[in-house]
Amino acid sequence: HKRIGILTSGGDCAGLNAAIRAVVHRAIDTYNWEPIGIFRATQGLMERPIGAVKLTIPLVDRLLVMGGTYLGTTNKGNPFAFPMENGELLDRSPEIIEGYHQLGLDAIVGIGGDGSLAILRKICQQGGMNFVAIPKTIDNDVGVTEHSIGFDTAVNIATEALDRLHFTAASHSRAMILEVMGRDAGHIAISAGIAGGADVILIPEIPYTIANLCERIRLRQLEGKNYSLIIVSEAVKTECGEIVQVDTNRYGGIGHYLATKIAAASGAETRVTTLGHTQRGGMPSPLDRLIASAFGVAAVDLIAEEKFDRMVAWQRREVISVPIEEAISQYCAVNPQSTLVKTARGLGIYLGD
Ligand code: F6P
Repeated sequence: HKRIGILTSGGDCAGLNAAIRAVVHRAIDTYNWEPIGIFRATQGLMERPIGAVKLTIPLVDRLLVMGGTYLGTTNKGNPFAFPMENGELLDRSPEIIEGYHQLGLDAIVGIGGDGSLAILRKICQQGGMNFVAIPKTIDNDVGVTEHSIGFDTAVNIATEALDRLHFTAASHSRAMILEVMGRDAGHIAISAGIAGGADVILIPEIPYTIANLCERIRLRQLEGKNYSLIIVSEAVKTECGEIVQVDTNRYGGIGHYLATKIAAASGAETRVTTLGHTQRGGMPSPLDRLIASAFGVAAVDLIAEEKFDRMVAWQRREVISVPIEEAISQYCAVNPQSTLVKTARGLGIYLGD
């Protein structure tokens, strides 16, 4: 009989609850273990009394389709330099370690992106805690795994936004700019851009120029198409390899910066949509539910096999596991030589130079 903890850390995304549900099912149905949900990432383990709840099948059963995370999360504080009310930064990892042992946990499943998984791993190593990781992030930038929970739903939302923008753009003969998330990577932009039929895709991995971008808009005008759809990752900062310091006070972000520049250079009327956190909220897509369910089951199996310090990963239609170290040391940006980049170029999409 084992008692295992589960927590969600870093930013939320769609599919976290499906993973929690899968962990609880596997732990109870297959192994007759006791799963304990820890609230607000590692914060639940810092609190006294400890912020945790015994998870049961009836409690998690409706979670499959719910957005957000039932357990709550936070990306406010690095536990090694946790911001206290008096403004001090305190190392609170000893309290987390103590909380784990007080709860009598045999292992912990942590769902997070590369940043929060690295922090969790360090705490677990220091505290003799058995740790198994599940990758999640709408940015899809965790190395080694082809899928992370939340990415597919975010791409669906961004694609739907482009689908909607097509019609209003055409009606008003405008250049519509859609700014999507991605933190430092262009995965959401390139995937949704291709799926949603964008004319221009800007990602941080490939430099562009306003002049060439406007040339694409002009070519469309010559073809009799008076509107254009431009999708840009929030991470885009460079124009032709030069870092453009986007003055956020003046422009509000890269989308607004582009709108001003494109209007000035091409005369096109521009409008901006910034999707923001709509990409993280709402019901998970079927694919995210599948990935989350498979990851949850596999994570519990790793604990049964006593294979710790490992992350479940998706590779070639299978869930495998890899050392966490390997995953967090291999940041995954969009490869400029990848199939998706070739596809976009093959479709005549302007994707930089
Ligand atoms: O990493 C996920 C992500 O949604 C990024 O795409 C985005 O830049 C960031 O988190 C937003 O963070 P917050 O929720 O703190 O605004």
